[in-house]
Amino acid sequence: MKGIVLAGGSGTRLYPATLAVNKQLLPVYDKPMIYYPLSALMLAGIRDILLIASPEFLDSYRRLLGDGSDHGLSLSYAIQEKPEGIAQALVIGREFVGDGRVALVLGDNIFFSANLGERLKAVASREAGATIFAYQVEDPQRYGVVELDAAGRPTAIVEKPEKPRSDWAVTGLYFYDNAVLDIAAALKPSTRGEFEITDVNRAYLERGELSVEKLGRGAAWLDTGTHDSLLEASEFVRALQHRQGLAIACLEEIAFENGFIDLAALEARGRLFEKTAYGRYLLRLVDAQRAT
Ligand code: TTP
Repeated sequence: MKGIVLAGGSGTRLYPATLAVNKQLLPVYDKPMIYYPLSALMLAGIRDILLIASPEFLDSYRRLLGDGSDHGLSLSYAIQEKPEGIAQALVIGREFVGDGRVALVLGDNIFFSANLGERLKAVASREAGATIFAYQVEDPQRYGVVELDAAGRPTAIVEKPEKPRSDWAVTGLYFYDNAVLDIAAALKPSTRGEFEITDVNRAYLERGELSVEKLGRGAAWLDTGTHDSLLEASEFVRALQHRQGLAIACLEEIAFENGFIDLAALEARGRLFEKTAYGRYLLRLVDAQRAT
């Protein structure tokens, strides 16, 4: 299975912080925002990843992540000229995806949940259909919303409803079979002029091929779109990391755990960041590994 990270957008709600820097390059506590969605794909076991960015920031992402080898990934890059909708990622990525399945994640989405890796690997192993993740929110009218029956099966999916009939927001992580390429290619722009991912998901719902995974009480799906929510996300990551001594979205750790990189590569990254808690965390992992 291949992965796409969509990291375009204009970040207008974060102006002036995002006039010269792309939103997804801003730090969430101790690491760039893009690390978090990237970690979700890696936790699902995905190594072959396309990063889509706006033209002015593509080079920054290349500088940050290179060809992916530091994290045991194969990374390629593509441009989204204008933020014309999330579903456009599946048009831009058509050739990259080829004839297999694909997971798409938005560059500003942060997920935290117990056993996230196991859950995502199970979803990634499904051969057919689409899987989306839903999270209960207080302000569903801001999101794509999915209505569920008593058994948790989806019955309707609506983009930014004025009067939401469900408080289950659709999060920015989607798993699709290869049919998604044709579904996305056939989309027409919505009234707000965007190629809507909600229309893609509705197409799967109408075929009876949409699964919804609920992220429950024990999970966090964090917003990073405004100054306050960005700071709150940083505070959340800081509090958990300090309390537990375990990192959230540490790409080298996930890469090592998944067998994407070896101990020497883990140590090299630790040395590179030796002056930071992030680097020292990596070196502690190396020591613990050597002691076993
Ligand atoms: P949004 O929050 O809808 O938009 P934005 O990031 O441009 O911010 P603002 O509303 O402040 O202007 O985007 C959600 C995520 O999807 C974010 O990671 C950017 C990404 N995105 C694209 O990369 N391309 C697109 O065409 C759209 C609509 C979103």
